[in-house]
Amino acid sequence: ASLEMFVDELPRMPTVYGFSYDHHGSPTPAHPTIGMFQKKWKFHRDLPATRVFAYGTSREAATVPGPTIEAIQGVPTYVTWENHLPKKHILPWDPTVPTAIPKTGGVPTVVHLHGGVQDPPNDGYAFAWFTANFKETGPFWTKPTYFYPNVQHAGNLWYHDHALGMTRANLLAGLIAAYVIRDPKLEATLNLPAGPEFDRHLFIFDRSFCKDGSLYMNSTGNYPSIHPQWQPEYFGDAMIVNGKAWPYLKVQRRKYRFRIINASNARYLRLHLSNGLTFVNVGADKSYLPSPVPTKNILLSPSEIADVIVDFSTSKADEAVLINDARYPYPDGSLADPLNRKVMKFIIASGKPKQPDRSSIPASLVKYPIATTVGAAKTRYITMYEYLSPSGEPTQLLINGKTPEDPATETPKSGSTEVWEVINLTNDSHPLHLHLASIQAIKVQKLVKLDEFKDCMRAKNDALKCNVKAHATGKVFKIPDYEKTWKFTVKIEPGCQTTIIAKFYLVHTGEPYPFDATTEPGYLYHCHILDHEDNVMVRPLKLIK
Ligand code: C2O
Ligand code: CU
Repeated sequence: ASLEMFVDELPRMPTVYGFSYDHHGSPTPAHPTIGMFQKKWKFHRDLPATRVFAYGTSREAATVPGPTIEAIQGVPTYVTWENHLPKKHILPWDPTVPTAIPKTGGVPTVVHLHGGVQDPPNDGYAFAWFTANFKETGPFWTKPTYFYPNVQHAGNLWYHDHALGMTRANLLAGLIAAYVIRDPKLEATLNLPAGPEFDRHLFIFDRSFCKDGSLYMNSTGNYPSIHPQWQPEYFGDAMIVNGKAWPYLKVQRRKYRFRIINASNARYLRLHLSNGLTFVNVGADKSYLPSPVPTKNILLSPSEIADVIVDFSTSKADEAVLINDARYPYPDGSLADPLNRKVMKFIIASGKPKQPDRSSIPASLVKYPIATTVGAAKTRYITMYEYLSPSGEPTQLLINGKTPEDPATETPKSGSTEVWEVINLTNDSHPLHLHLASIQAIKVQKLVKLDEFKDCMRAKNDALKCNVKAHATGKVFKIPDYEKTWKFTVKIEPGCQTTIIAKFYLVHTGEPYPFDATTEPGYLYHCHILDHEDNVMVRPLKLIK
């Protein structure tokens, strides 16, 4: 029998403050320590507790997802990351993909602040991993305390593990959490729903469980003679929000702000509310939108964040189920089944809210420079492929035919703008994520005579030599208005060329980074389907002066 839905209340994850107040009442940098612990976590009332890896300020305080770090724009945060994990992983992993394999055992980890603007030694490079007590460290490990300058504009980020080849297993085990950069002045002017009750994270991911409560991950690869454990995508049956399977939240008849993070390994979420209420989008990923965008559906690929206002005062029904109807793999896989179609339930109180709702949704939000090819220093062609086994199953996914161990070929100038033409020759959509940069899609266009282009690419591996311009002439798709701001992840649709503007400086001021972004070990860009990233849809991104 499957688990009963909507029996656990939506938890609020603990807060770790990335600042403190000095004796003048001004915010100053804080130095929290966050550890990674193995512990047991209750995902559902009727499911035995599950062994997980969890972030927390102590083992007792550790949660899945971990504590939300609250930072203030312009006030740096120093986090000391500690690995207290045991010798053995709780999930299968696969030594046949490029993997951090400590000789003395232990679980390799390294923390990446996703969406953060920090210099390379603080970015959480996949090769900068460490095991418990720093007993063993990867070739690019430098230090236990990471410095986050929080110099970028206010917005939603998250942090998660990034150890080479272990990312899918470490995140699945629970090493994921939210991070917010706030701008108190801006937030006061915007007057959106605020405070811990009305401004909530919905941190969504899918998991499968065994009867004894343990996490289930298929440990047999889809083509075991090549990859004994690796599977091309992880999909779970249960939808988890803030660490509970199909939770409920009691809401008042008023406006709420939800920061919705898709932290699934591979599942796209296309969300709507069963009572027909509208999501008013105020932000996407790490940025506010220029003005609010009302929509009934939101499509979130893994790692994307929607920032929405929902006004429950206009609901006729007294409950609203958050529904996911995305196919998986996206977009041409099977329909979401009855289990993972439902995400959580809002139970809407009758009558007026306890206090009048004084929040509002302003007609305009924050205007960052618009995305255009004007002034771009360079155009790059980035192609996503998959390599098939003789029986037609993917055995490896690549960017430009290269692996993370091949030297960097994407070397933008710090301070520059570039155009990335991203070509997807696979059958599925891939969420492309760039570290450090601010990115935005401006055009998605179908490739014509795709088979001819694929054959040429297989032979020459060079989009220009294969005359991509003559192929990128098909139907142009609309980019939804709720995605028209500076993001950290862009969905790359199959059989299309997606034109992305990438900015390698601070978009809110136009200023260069206040640190040297060109140092070792550089950054990464990759597909955020974690099973693809691990095998091996990830490449170095090295900035130059
Ligand atoms: Cu969310 Cu390189 O990661
Ligand atoms: Cu992918």
